[in-house]
Amino acid sequence: MKQQGLLDHRPHGGMADPDFVRAVSTGLRQQPKSIPCRFFYDTAGSRLFDRICDLPEYYPTRTELALLAAHADQFASLIGPGAEVVEFGAGSGDKVRLLLDALDQPAIYRPIDISGEFLLSSAQRLARDYHDLSVRPVIADFTQPIPLPAARPGTRRVGFFPGSTIGNFAPAQATRFLRGAARLLRGGGLLIGVDLVKDREVLRRAYDDAQGVTAAFNRNVLVRANEELGADFDLDRFAHRALFNEAHSRIEMHLVSQVAQIVRIGEQEFSFADGETIHTENSYKYTVGDFRRLAASAGFTPLHVWTDIDRLFSLHWLEA
Ligand SMILES: C[S@@+](CC[C@H](N)C(=O)[O-])C[C@H]1O[C@@H](n2cnc3c(N)ncnc32)[C@H](O)[C@@H]1O
Repeated sequence: MKQQGLLDHRPHGGMADPDFVRAVSTGLRQQPKSIPCRFFYDTAGSRLFDRICDLPEYYPTRTELALLAAHADQFASLIGPGAEVVEFGAGSGDKVRLLLDALDQPAIYRPIDISGEFLLSSAQRLARDYHDLSVRPVIADFTQPIPLPAARPGTRRVGFFPGSTIGNFAPAQATRFLRGAARLLRGGGLLIGVDLVKDREVLRRAYDDAQGVTAAFNRNVLVRANEELGADFDLDRFAHRALFNEAHSRIEMHLVSQVAQIVRIGEQEFSFADGETIHTENSYKYTVGDFRRLAASAGFTPLHVWTDIDRLFSLHWLEA
C-alpha cells in the first residue's frame, strides 16, 4: 500500500488526544455522566469488537454477512463498474471483501476509521489481496466533516456503512451524519446496515454476553483513560450494564460504580455515588419504515431494502 495515499486527520502527534481529554473531563462533570462511544476504539478496543462479532449472542455480524453474500450481485449492478468505495467505520474490513469481490473492477477503496493503527493494518491486508485496487485509508472522526479529495471524473463514488454503526448516533446526529454523507456521495449511493427492533432479551444478550467480552470492550474506555490520561480508575469497581430503553428504542451501555468513590485524572477529581453510572454507548434500533424516513429526511432517496427471514437486520440502498 502506498503510504502517500494515507489521510491522517488526527489532531495530536503522540500526545494525549485533546478530544479524549475534553470529552472525559466534560462528560464526567455532567449529570448523568457519559463518555462518547468513539473512545472505545484504540487497537485493543478494535480487537475486542472483532471478538464480539464472533460471539453466539451477537447476531448482527453473521446476519449482515449472510445478507451481503446473498445479494452481492444486486449491489454490483446498482453500483456499476469502476466505482470508488468509501467505507465509514471500516474496522477489520472483512465485510467489504464480499462487496469488492462482486463489483466490476472497483477502482478506489477509502476505508475511514478513528482507530488508526488497526485501520492501517487491515488496509494493508486488503491492498495485498486486491492488487488492482487503490486502497487509501483515512484516519478520521466521521462525526466531523471528512475532507476527501473530489471523486475522479467518470468514477462513481458510493458509500458502505455496515455494522449498524449508524445506531450509535441519536436520531438528530444520524440525520446530520447522513446529510454530510449524501453530499459526499452525490451521484452515487450508500449501502448501509441497520439493526432492527426485536425481542428485548435477544437485544440485551447481544450486548451482555456470557463470556464477558462486551464487558471488557466497555471497560476499555477506562483502560484508555488510565493509560492515556493518567487516570486511576479501578476497573473492578465499575461493572458493565446493558439495558434496552424502550422509550428511545435503544440499547444503552453503562459502567456502574460499585461503591462510592473518587477517581483522579491528573489534578481533577470526580466523585461517584454507589450505583452511579457512566453512560458509554447507545445503539438505536429501527423499524425499516422509520429508517427509510430518516434517510429521506437527510436527502437520500431510499430504494431497496433487504432483510433476513427473521427480520433481525436490514441492509438499505439509498441513492444520493
Ligand atoms: C460497530 S464497529 C463496526 C465495525 C465494522 N464496520 C463492522 O461492521 O463490523 C464501529 C467501527 O467504527 C469506528 N468508529 C467508531 N466511531 C467512529 C468515529 N467517530 N469516526 C470514525 N470511526 C469510528 C470504530 O473504530 C469501528 O471500527
